[in-house]
Amino acid sequence: MKILIVIASVRNGRSGAKVADWFNDQVTKDGRFESEVVDLIDVNLPYELGQTLPSQIQNSEYEFEETRAWAKQVSDADAVVFVSPEYNHGYSASLKNAIDHLFAEWNNKPVGFVNYGSTGAPYSFVAISMVAQWVKMAVVQPRVAIPEIWAAFADDGTLAHADYHEFEAQRMLGALAEKVQSD
Ligand SMILES: Cc1cc2nc3c(=O)[nH]c(=O)nc-3n(C[C@H](O)[C@H](O)[C@H](O)COP(=O)(O)O)c2cc1C
Repeated sequence: MKILIVIASVRNGRSGAKVADWFNDQVTKDGRFESEVVDLIDVNLPYELGQTLPSQIQNSEYEFEETRAWAKQVSDADAVVFVSPEYNHGYSASLKNAIDHLFAEWNNKPVGFVNYGSTGAPYSFVAISMVAQWVKMAVVQPRVAIPEIWAAFADDGTLAHADYHEFEAQRMLGALAEKVQSD
């Protein structure tokens, strides 16, 4: 089984890459999934969308090359995990854009969230849940929720309250594996 770990923040000096590294280590420790980390900076989707609505596109025949490449990365994965911060009680514009570029690729895709922020990004999870439901993602619980992100990682990469967050990650991976295997 393959999991795509998406760094959803594109901010200069972001914490997202560190959080993704930590989660990638959890996937390796768990052993059930092969992982690939993808950075929305590299995916480089335009804010412009193609003329045809994404929900009307078949076989990932999107107008833009970047969208087609992104569609392939999502389609090739059995499950997707968004490493996503909370911004203004929502989630990043880069993540919304990445969702909006596709449609069929999200349908029934097992999806998990590794959220972080000042608290554990509860509003961002609520905000994205409605969108995820519309594009028919199969979102699993629990999610990973890391608070006080500015103080969460020591210089050596150790995460505060590591046991608890590792437990969250393992449970989420378990739920994703179950969803993938039940398809
Ligand atoms: C534009 C902006 C808005 C933010 N709004 C919230 C918020 O509503 N709730 C929260 O918990 N943290 C908020 N924060 C703090 C971020 O969660 C924190 O800075 C986090 O590190 C951002 O992720 P990143 O470093 O990967 O970009 C905000 C940060 C930014 C840049």
